[in-house]
Amino acid sequence: MVKIAPSILSADFVNLERDIKRVSSADYLHVDVMDGAFVPNITIGIPVVESIRRCTNLFLDVHLMIDKPARYVEAFARAGADMLSVHLEADHPTRIAQAFKIMEDCGVKKAVALRPITKAEAILPYIQQLDMALVMTVEPGFGGQSFMESQLETIRQVRAIIDQYNPACDLEVDGGISPKTAPLVVEAGANVLVAGSAVYGADDIPAAIAALRG
Ligand code: DX5
Ligand code: ZN
Repeated sequence: MVKIAPSILSADFVNLERDIKRVSSADYLHVDVMDGAFVPNITIGIPVVESIRRCTNLFLDVHLMIDKPARYVEAFARAGADMLSVHLEADHPTRIAQAFKIMEDCGVKKAVALRPITKAEAILPYIQQLDMALVMTVEPGFGGQSFMESQLETIRQVRAIIDQYNPACDLEVDGGISPKTAPLVVEAGANVLVAGSAVYGADDIPAAIAALRG
């Protein structure tokens, strides 16, 4: 079963509670945290995640696009995140391992995220402890970009690694997901689809979520 994770990056921040309620038929709520250093954009931080937690029971899938994420894992966990994704490119391997240790201690689910340049094999040192791997299908930083078809191969490779070493691990894709690209990523092995503009740009949001599910 494919899970849909609407990204509130495309929501109206003045009406965030309304826009979160509009995606209540989804499985996860995807929250993009950007620090202006790991990516050239700044978005949502800890107090906003706390406020979001108070207005929804949806599973909070928090995508940390920040340098040295281990520094903030505990704070985001306390703010109410259910799962945290840390980018493998954001720190040295020992500090990424430390971020997972903190997640374990805090009781949040653990995910790694891969920029398009990063090879699928990069997840191997962590695969056994992961709840999810996130393959970016655009350069992280902004919503509304075009899907990178070249990432289909990375999705296939990550799927093969998951099937071999940790079949319970989810495979999420993020960037340029639409009713047109969703079947391609699902065929390649993804089972959690993030969508910002394809959900919030639609006139009928529940229908858009259903269309992405396929
Ligand atoms: C981009 C973010 C995405 C973004 C996706 O760096 O990680 O979650 O919101 O937006 P769309 O679906 O519009 O490409
Ligand atoms: Zn994201």
